[in-house]
Amino acid sequence: MEAIQLTNIEKIYGRGLSETRALQGINFKANPGELISITGPSGSGKSTFLKIIGGILSPTNGQLLIDGQNYGDMSKRQQSLFRLDQLGFILQSYNLVPYLTVKEQFELVDRVKPTGNLPNAAFKQLCADLSLDQLMNQYPDQLSGGQQQRVAIARAMYPNPQIILADEPTAALDGQRAVQTMEIFKRIAHQQNKTVLLITHDSRLIKYVDRNYQIVDGQGKFVSKDDRQLV
Ligand SMILES: Nc1ncnc2c1ncn2[C@@H]1O[C@H](COP(=O)(O)OP(=O)(O)OP(=O)(O)O)[C@@H](O)[C@H]1O
Ligand SMILES: [Mg+2]
Repeated sequence: MEAIQLTNIEKIYGRGLSETRALQGINFKANPGELISITGPSGSGKSTFLKIIGGILSPTNGQLLIDGQNYGDMSKRQQSLFRLDQLGFILQSYNLVPYLTVKEQFELVDRVKPTGNLPNAAFKQLCADLSLDQLMNQYPDQLSGGQQQRVAIARAMYPNPQIILADEPTAALDGQRAVQTMEIFKRIAHQQNKTVLLITHDSRLIKYVDRNYQIVDGQGKFVSKDDRQLV
């Protein structure tokens, strides 16, 4: 069964003169075990697409199935439990809690979702992979953009979600760290059979993904990795 399936998804922001058709007739499928990049020009609808899959935005029309379940049919409470359990979201802004240290960001996850989070050894490994060990007692505003981004990546992975959605997760990282982060995403997808979708403008990272989905003017299609339009 597909991990994610979108059928004829449309998103219209605003009404009347201020109406923006951000997505039109999006059809998309992703399987467990796949690492997929989402590319396309600025304003083409990439973040809107990811937020709809993540349940942060409702589509204007169309159907969204996650793991075969119709997201639109769930109650608000079922939706938030489902999100907590199944989805890890790394947003374009890092969305760390400003008054909590790095360590406390993870403890907060434990409080909201006490079970099913990464076992200690796996968490330690993730922190080592992302070089977070020295940062545990810092507050977000004491971290560089790249450090905040690495914490946000670890925090999204800590609840061990089946699907990881990342909006330009490597934008604030230098080339070497961006590549290391792609290796982590790839390992998670291939070894743990998870689905990872990531928006990127960085053409150097495309070689790490299994498939590339391109969105232009709100319309999307899978394109060959060599035939992408990156802006
Ligand atoms: N909350 C909103 N209200 C109204 N219009 C919006 C809103 N969010 C996005 N849009 C519009 O929808 C379109 C798609 O925006 P979106 O953020 O999905 O693009 P994007 O591909 O992620 O761009 P970027 O690469 O710059 O992040 C744009 O025209 C944008 O102006
Ligand atoms: Mg965006």
